Amino acid sequence: MNKRVLEVNHATMRFGGLVAVNDLCMHIDHQEIVALIGPNGAGKTTAFNMITGVYTPTSGSVTLNSRSITGLRPDRIAHAGIARTFQNIRLFKALTVLDNVLIARHLRLTSSWPSAVLRLPRYRRENAQMYRRAEELLTYMGLWEVRGEIASSLPYGMQRKLEIARALATQPTLLLLDEPAAGMNPAESAELTELIRGIRDCFHLTVLLIEHHMDVVMDISDRIYVLNYGSLIAEGTPDEIQQNEDVIHAYLGGDDDEA
Ligand SMILES: Nc1ncnc2c1ncn2[C@@H]1O[C@H](COP(=O)(O)OP(=O)(O)OP(=O)(O)O)[C@@H](O)[C@H]1O
Ligand SMILES: [Mg+2]
Repeated sequence: MNKRVLEVNHATMRFGGLVAVNDLCMHIDHQEIVALIGPNGAGKTTAFNMITGVYTPTSGSVTLNSRSITGLRPDRIAHAGIARTFQNIRLFKALTVLDNVLIARHLRLTSSWPSAVLRLPRYRRENAQMYRRAEELLTYMGLWEVRGEIASSLPYGMQRKLEIARALATQPTLLLLDEPAAGMNPAESAELTELIRGIRDCFHLTVLLIEHHMDVVMDISDRIYVLNYGSLIAEGTPDEIQQNEDVIHAYLGGDDDEA
């Protein structure tokens, strides 16, 4: 059954005179992997920022599982079930790999601070669960061996994977990935593609990703949305998008003479 997870309805984001995203409509169904692509400055990250509450859309709305999340604070939206990674990696650089994931898990703790201070059974039980979940996630991402390393000391590709592990620690229903393969070589991005597919299947997640590596996009996506200068110019399957004249135009800068 196609259960609708995310719906973006006519969302527009203006910054002064600049319309960064213009009348964006898109949807994602349960366990779909959908890509949002487009040239630099097209408005992709701004769309993520509207979905995650970093910005409130100037107009339009966003719903998660049929509930409006428009204008909610980022922490409320995270609680509602959306997790994200960032185009520029944002980790607690001075903390260990394990602590980065454990900190994210705190979003899901239900015990109150007095029970933490007094180390009541519920707190201890939740802490133990938190640790087990962190172990499961880090093992899944191939990072359990380096759990004691300081995050900033990891190679770039591993830091990107740690960001994903940290996002998963909040137990999202929808995972947003902003250029997860940025800076990766072809072998690393092929491995990442498999990992993202595995995450979707294993954690029953729905995924929206922004990506410039077209091999990754075409391989992994069920559907693709294409933004150009803030406006949606195409939507379709990888095959449809690859043959779409407007998309080819947008990426080749209007040059029709390609071989
Ligand atoms: N807070 C802001 N204030 C003013 N302009 C902004 C702001 N955020 C984004 N923009 C502008 O909005 C437009 C879209 O930016 P955005 O970062 O969403 O593009 P993008 O598609 O993610 O590009 P890239 O592929 O380079 O990451 C750009 O012109 C950018 O300069
Ligand atoms: Mg961006």
